Amino acid sequence: MTADAIDVHNHNVPRGWPDLAVAAGGGDNWPSLRIDSERDAMIMMGSQEFRPVTDSAWSADTRLADMDADGVGIQVISPTPMFFSFTRPAEQAVPVARIFNDLALELCSEAPDRLIPFCQVPLQDTDAACRELDRCMDAGFRGVEIGNHIGDRDLDDEGIVTFLQHCASVGAPVFVHPWDMPESPRLNRWMAQWLVGMPQETHLSITAMILGGAFDRLPRDLRICFAHGGGSIAMWLGRMDNAWKNRHDIVGTTEHPPSYYVDRFSVDSVVFDQRTLRYLVDVMGSERVMMGSDYPYALGERPAGAVVRDNPLLSADEQQALLRGNALTFLNGPGSNTVNT
Ligand code: CO
Repeated sequence: MTADAIDVHNHNVPRGWPDLAVAAGGGDNWPSLRIDSERDAMIMMGSQEFRPVTDSAWSADTRLADMDADGVGIQVISPTPMFFSFTRPAEQAVPVARIFNDLALELCSEAPDRLIPFCQVPLQDTDAACRELDRCMDAGFRGVEIGNHIGDRDLDDEGIVTFLQHCASVGAPVFVHPWDMPESPRLNRWMAQWLVGMPQETHLSITAMILGGAFDRLPRDLRICFAHGGGSIAMWLGRMDNAWKNRHDIVGTTEHPPSYYVDRFSVDSVVFDQRTLRYLVDVMGSERVMMGSDYPYALGERPAGAVVRDNPLLSADEQQALLRGNALTFLNGPGSNTVNT
């Protein structure tokens, strides 16, 4: 039953991208890949080591073997957020997006029925972002991954909402991934930027879409999914509703209370705790949670989807919806039974 599971949260890191300072026509501190062996590499930021990766990041064969071992039929593969380049000049982000998109398409073309690519776009420039999305959708991409903010512009920003309207109009599903987390002496210890910062970032950006009126300006058929279970939003929707009621002078920016908007977005299952996932399904509805794993990174779940499959707190129908059915709706729109409709 679960061998055909669809994993909506994966990343790739290709090999063989050019010197980005040259390709982008300037700038410094660009990422590069230091190849250490046939199977090992280090993502560098300028001259600093950023993250070790193995061939699971770029090899279709390794990826497919891991998917078979985990019972995953299809991966929806997104860029690694450090390549977004949203805070650089748009004329630099445009060629970078094109480079990483073309390499991702190459990876996925090795098994097109099992590896489904999502593209990246130069989101800081709305027109350029729409153009790159169109180019990618024509080339075989199935959706787009965006970061949750561009500097101080959150997801209720006019340019970003315009891009999301375009996504809805061309039927491109959107996966929102936290990135560019705040830094401080308190957040730079352990992996606090990832452990605390990422869930907060996603929580803040969903809050911005609700209270900033983005959902009111966007069509209902926009399909948008947030990573890591939506961060901390589900736990604190009640607090936002209470504030909407009691501090309506500040928080009452929408006609409806914040919890009214939960049916406008989906979240993935990357929460690692059976009770948390059960709670998430209760808050979001079983049709708005999808299996993800964050493969191939160390903070991802292996076997992919175990928190769904092995979860006695979910019914068989709920498990099946999370493992496959909801992803089909996310990818294709309501009423789809196969990936390639
Ligand atoms: Co991720």
